[in-house]
Amino acid sequence: MHASQIAPSIMCVDFLKLEDTLDSLKRANIEYLHVDIMDGEFVPNYTLGPDFCRSLKAACDIPLDVHMMITHPERKLGWFPLGSGDYASVHYEAGNHPIRALKAIRDAGAKPMLALNPATPVCVLESVLDDIDAVLVMTVNPGYAGQKLIERTLDKITCVRRFLDERGYEHVRIEVDGNVSFENAKRMRRAGADIFVAGTSSIFTSAMPFDEAIIKLRSAIE
Ligand code: DX5
Ligand code: ZN
Repeated sequence: MHASQIAPSIMCVDFLKLEDTLDSLKRANIEYLHVDIMDGEFVPNYTLGPDFCRSLKAACDIPLDVHMMITHPERKLGWFPLGSGDYASVHYEAGNHPIRALKAIRDAGAKPMLALNPATPVCVLESVLDDIDAVLVMTVNPGYAGQKLIERTLDKITCVRRFLDERGYEHVRIEVDGNVSFENAKRMRRAGADIFVAGTSSIFTSAMPFDEAIIKLRSAIE
């Protein structure tokens, strides 16, 4: 099993406090900044974009984890400031050429990740095994923060881990995104998840001070 890592979902930050939040994330040695890119087409919402990613890069050294919920990502990847250490994920259904998009991420020097919607079958991984460093298992339908876990996706995490291991791809990591609460994170970890997108269900909540919430999430996924 890989070491567990946390990727806070930046769309859940109070943007009026962005600078303070980034300072706290640096102090907490957060592994990635999860940046949701939505185009109102692939998902029913708009969020962040390439300029915002550039601002994050200028503000701190934490690698980005750019989650592209956009159509035809292979045509748009070049707009983003991707580099060594960053992840970028594209959805299997987002364009006609997922392998082309994954290769473009690799060519940019970043780590390619294929995102699976809750209804996307695990077997689609067969054709991209050599083109990915990670699989993003969506545990809610993408588009919004604050949704409820789709319980069946827990078994899917286990299936993805087994699918990869049986084919000799033990090095490929699994990220989970959607309702990663303290309790759900524990169950996702047991199922085989490595990277946890932390949003309104855990660290971006008014129920607990931010630093305390990060410590609590870390201990849930140890
Ligand atoms: C979309 C986002 C959301 C969200 C996660 O891909 O990454 O899933 O911000 O946070 P929750 O589900 O905890 O609000
Ligand atoms: Zn996301």
